[in-house]
Amino acid sequence: MRRFFGSVEGGVSESIFVGGGGEGYGEAQRLLLKYANRHGLIAGATGTGKTVTLQILAEGFSAAGVPVFLSDVKGDLSGLARAGSADFRLHDAFMKRAATIGFDDYAYRDFPVTFWDLFAEQGHPVRTTVAEMGPLLLARLLELTEVQEGVLNIAFRLADEEGLPLLDLKDLRALLLWVGQNGRELSLRYGNVSTSSVGAIQRALLVLENQGGARLFGEPALELADLMRTDSRGRGRINILAADRLMASPRLYATFLLWLLSELFEELPEVGDPDKPKLVFFFDEAHLLFEDAPKALIDKVEQVARLIRSKGVGVWFVTQNPDDVPEDVLGQLGNRVQHALRAFTARDHKALQRAARTYRDNPRFSTEDAIREVGVGEALTSFLEARGVPGMVERTLIRPPSSQLGPITPAERRQVIAASPLAGKYEAEIDRESAFERLRARAEAAAREAEAAEEEEERLAEEAREFRRARRFGGARSRAPASRGRGRGRSGESLGEALAGAVIRELKGTTGRRIVRGLFGTLFRGR
Ligand SMILES: Nc1ncnc2c1ncn2[C@@H]1O[C@H](COP(=O)(O)OP(=O)(O)OP(=O)(O)O)[C@@H](O)[C@H]1O
Ligand SMILES: [Mg+2]
Repeated sequence: MRRFFGSVEGGVSESIFVGGGGEGYGEAQRLLLKYANRHGLIAGATGTGKTVTLQILAEGFSAAGVPVFLSDVKGDLSGLARAGSADFRLHDAFMKRAATIGFDDYAYRDFPVTFWDLFAEQGHPVRTTVAEMGPLLLARLLELTEVQEGVLNIAFRLADEEGLPLLDLKDLRALLLWVGQNGRELSLRYGNVSTSSVGAIQRALLVLENQGGARLFGEPALELADLMRTDSRGRGRINILAADRLMASPRLYATFLLWLLSELFEELPEVGDPDKPKLVFFFDEAHLLFEDAPKALIDKVEQVARLIRSKGVGVWFVTQNPDDVPEDVLGQLGNRVQHALRAFTARDHKALQRAARTYRDNPRFSTEDAIREVGVGEALTSFLEARGVPGMVERTLIRPPSSQLGPITPAERRQVIAASPLAGKYEAEIDRESAFERLRARAEAAAREAEAAEEEEERLAEEAREFRRARRFGGARSRAPASRGRGRGRSGESLGEALAGAVIRELKGTTGRRIVRGLFGTLFRGR
């Protein structure tokens, strides 16, 4: 029916039903789709209803034909793929809640879900290339110092100039090795490239690899269009990133999502103010993005939030305390769902007051008191109204979900993954020729030269031995290994030995064997 979900088949729906506010919770509270690209915030203490709010918003967007991307931190959002059930223990509670808020066409239904997983276990693998991630985000991911970041920048520039594609982590490793070995020469051209910085980056890469970060980098890389699909009935697909295991590496989690946002920002065309968003992106555990983030990064997030709007992407931050989100970013979030906050300490109290002050007051209640008092699945809401003005704050009982509350079984998940229109597209990793292979080829060519030189050296040595033998037994008349000069080299050294020595000395120079050995030694050890 049109009233709550809008109609996908019948035309553009204008809003998403979120819950009931006003006296007795009877007044429908709606999120206007045309302002859904003005971003949003879902905040509240643990267990207050944030995840269910995210779930019902995802349902609403999907039903309105808007694709959604969200990260599933606790694994409880996979239920979106299945309809709720009258056998569920909360069925009666859900029905009662629906009746209270006048949600007459409340019905259980499932939604089209695409599962993604950096570790390729709970969904389609999601990858990007090192080059696409770029030195800035990589430096953040690797927790590099400024000096190390500088070296990483030089490495990227070199890769560019030398035609060495950076796809996966082994490309980056090979490149850094090469940079390290040519540090002195590179320093003259680009400024200080110290081996200790290169070493530090290599160690950080190792840490990242141990966290499973190597899986993120490679090909086929994610195509953004695959996040923006609708199903055959016009419903937006809900992309769920498995983030439970990923949360063990918060940096990796936050950097990956930030990369995805910046990709969307850079790749999508301008659309001005669309009737509804092209994609809505939920950033759960958003505080991880800002935790000891440098000012430059926060500015970047603020900038992306401000500008991505006109690309039709709505971004929602989900976090416990709105205080976790820097003010400049918070100021960009026009739609708000504030679940209960507890105020134990003086600091909590301040944060709560600050949160309350950001709302347009409702004469019926004190915002500050209400934030403390609202029950589970209840929230203070404020959505942008006509001309994009924030609506008056309401105490809203959030609607119950139509899809299953809580996770689906692993077997059900496997079924969804197998039936996905993307099944098979990303599963097999491709290892195209890139920096690693090219540097290896260079090293092999150098090694072949070195080997040829070594053979030559041996041949000369053998000739020299023969020459000596001949002299000893056949007198001075036997021919010396001709045409290569006469007489002896350094004192006591035969001609052949001298020549061989020269070749070896040559090879021991900066351009010779040492680099070859170094490359082979490190690249192939432990493979
Ligand atoms: N809109 C709602 N309708 C019906 N029940 C709800 C609603 N919101 C929350 N609940 C109930 O409250 C429980 C906790 O909600 P939820 O899991 O969303 O909390 P949370 O804020 O995400 O907690 P955490 O911080 O621990 O992840 C749900 O399992 C459900 O039983
Ligand atoms: Mg939750």
